[in-house]
Amino acid sequence: MTLETVKTLADWIQAASSTVVLTGAGISTESGVPDFRSKSGWWRNVDPATVATADALQHNYPLFHAFYRARIEALKGLSPNVGHQILAKWEAAGRVDAIATQNVDGFHQMAGSRRVYELHGSIRSARCSNCGASASVEDFVAQRSCPHCGGRLRPNVVLFDETLPQDAWQGALEAIARADLVLVVGTSLNVSPANTLPALTRGKTAVINLEPTRMDEAFDLVIHGKAGEVLAAVDGRMG
Ligand code: OAD
Repeated sequence: MTLETVKTLADWIQAASSTVVLTGAGISTESGVPDFRSKSGWWRNVDPATVATADALQHNYPLFHAFYRARIEALKGLSPNVGHQILAKWEAAGRVDAIATQNVDGFHQMAGSRRVYELHGSIRSARCSNCGASASVEDFVAQRSCPHCGGRLRPNVVLFDETLPQDAWQGALEAIARADLVLVVGTSLNVSPANTLPALTRGKTAVINLEPTRMDEAFDLVIHGKAGEVLAAVDGRMG
């Protein structure tokens, strides 16, 4: 992060008539939530194919359950950090139009963001994998079966071989079409189709991430640093 890049981003946000933010696990690590692909990320210890797929849900429920239970329990006692709070403040001030997030932790909404498209669903609610009836996360954690049909419960997250929730995806596409600035925060941009969103804008693009992403060259502005610290610095420049 340099003074110059921070100032440029602050200027772009102030000049934009519509800014859309795409976030990933890196915005929540400062809250204490592990990401997926960094040294301490989930996928360094667990093969996603064995736990985060429809196949795992069907054929290896004990492992599927243990993984999502661990994810749910890892969120206990944690809360949004300054990065989430600044994005919510910018939305309230009319500076951010929408957030499209790959995160399932619900922290953007907890921080006060209102227009949030949860591209990968939410880990804070559950449903029956058989009949689709709504269920509580507590029932999922306790391994209760569906009271209606006896089916297995699952969190409302998107598994690897599933399509994204169409309302969230459509909302994100429409927001990107309106945007003249797309700001990406805390994602390695490894996962499709979420990683195709920044390229769909006709406006400027900026990325804030701790490490280089696989798409840095495609952005108009790249800032390497911690999301909370960079967003606080940008916010400070805007007054
Ligand atoms: P990743 O773990 O792939 O990437 C997170 C990025 O955030 C990494 O490049 C880190 O360097 C960066 N990072 C970590 N802490 C940061 C901080 N404090 N400030 C800024 N950057 C930081 O996570 P995602 O890109 O979100 O999907 O992963 C995308 C999807 O892959 C997830 O939604 C999940 C996963 O498999 C599903 O489960 C369907």
